[in-house]
Amino acid sequence: MKFANRVFGSKAIEAVATARATSVPQWDAIANIEDLRAVARSRVPRTFFEYVEAGSYDELTLRANRAALGALELRQRVMVDVSSRVQATTIVDQPVSMPVALAPAGLTGAVHANGEIYAARAAEAFGVPFCLSTMSVCSIEDVAAAVVKPFWFQLYLMKDRGFSRSLIERAHAARCPVLVLTMDLHVEGRRTVDVHNGLGIPPRLTLANILDIAMHPRWALGMLRSKEFTFGNLKDAIRNSGNLGALSEWVKQQFDPSFDRHDLEWVRQLWPGKIIVKGILDPQDAELAVAAGADAILVSNHGGRQLDGAPSTVEAFPAVRDAVGERAELLLDSGIRSGLDLLKALGLGARGCFIGRAYLYGLGAWGEAGVHKALSLISEELDAGMALTGVTDVKMVPRDVLMGRAG
Ligand SMILES: Cc1cc2nc3c(=O)[nH]c(=O)nc-3n(C[C@H](O)[C@H](O)[C@H](O)COP(=O)(O)O)c2cc1C
Repeated sequence: MKFANRVFGSKAIEAVATARATSVPQWDAIANIEDLRAVARSRVPRTFFEYVEAGSYDELTLRANRAALGALELRQRVMVDVSSRVQATTIVDQPVSMPVALAPAGLTGAVHANGEIYAARAAEAFGVPFCLSTMSVCSIEDVAAAVVKPFWFQLYLMKDRGFSRSLIERAHAARCPVLVLTMDLHVEGRRTVDVHNGLGIPPRLTLANILDIAMHPRWALGMLRSKEFTFGNLKDAIRNSGNLGALSEWVKQQFDPSFDRHDLEWVRQLWPGKIIVKGILDPQDAELAVAAGADAILVSNHGGRQLDGAPSTVEAFPAVRDAVGERAELLLDSGIRSGLDLLKALGLGARGCFIGRAYLYGLGAWGEAGVHKALSLISEELDAGMALTGVTDVKMVPRDVLMGRAG
């Protein structure tokens, strides 16, 4: 270093070091999801990048999710033949090439033009399910026309039960085999950063927002060519509401605080396929959901975007698992960023995981190819993790793959 300083001068060395530290990785140098995040940050306007990143209120639960996963230790086992390792399994009887599904994310089409379509295509090519949000930009019908294999649909039950029923019927007509019913959005948790950035319906057009978009011409051009600019599934409601401001009011009023197990029973009667109940953290709620007909429980705190101060999903999972037993499949999300995180969740007893931000970063970075990259990274990490913990099949991950958690 001293020699380099003498030859090039310390200022030049410092400049190169800073450039390296802040530079955005190229495709061939992408080593993990964090790298995809860095690329997405450079390509997606700040308002939308921060919308993906954010947790609610003080972001305590957002951080707790990552901290709890980080605190779990994997048990290294090396005296085992691991020459064959299998990631393929099923989630609610649907074959998957790896125990992962792409989580529903509202406004995915604002992270990348036609984002839902690209994410669905990447998931289809990889062999994992894509779950479309009620609050997507591309509609159920747009995504159905873009893929061969049916995707999953996430439902927010609206107060207007007639409209909810029509969403269920549209998902059925699109041959969605699985309905993911989100139970943890009776009211919307506030994300401070979205308020500051003016992200709402309609978005607040500030000078900062306009500059932000102007500095991301690739994103802006894509958007100009995109199929949709609003909530594709809510078009009928929009038509009735007249303008975006009225739509905003309609959406706010439609989240239903009366939503309980009776409504779940109502959905169960309408939906012939599998139902995954999403947003459960408590064993009593899990019991109620199973009794009302859930085929699977997704232990989730919405990625730390709803009740701030709620436990991490790693903390909440064991009690739910013990309450549900074999009566329903158990899934986990919130904080999964790698195949090693995934392996830890499988060790807790999850059948599989949903991933949200991990694929949204890939989408913001490189669209469909970026989502595929995110899935490949997770699969490679899972494979290495399995090899070094003596696990040969994701369907048989022993509890004691986690240190101190035998039996
Ligand atoms: C940008 C964004 C939008 C989301 N929108 C929805 C949604 O419309 N419906 C839903 O059920 N969950 C939604 N979620 C929660 C995800 O489905 C999932 O539970 C969460 O992202 C998991 O945490 P992770 O991002 O750390 O993987 C959203 C999450 C993010 C990050």
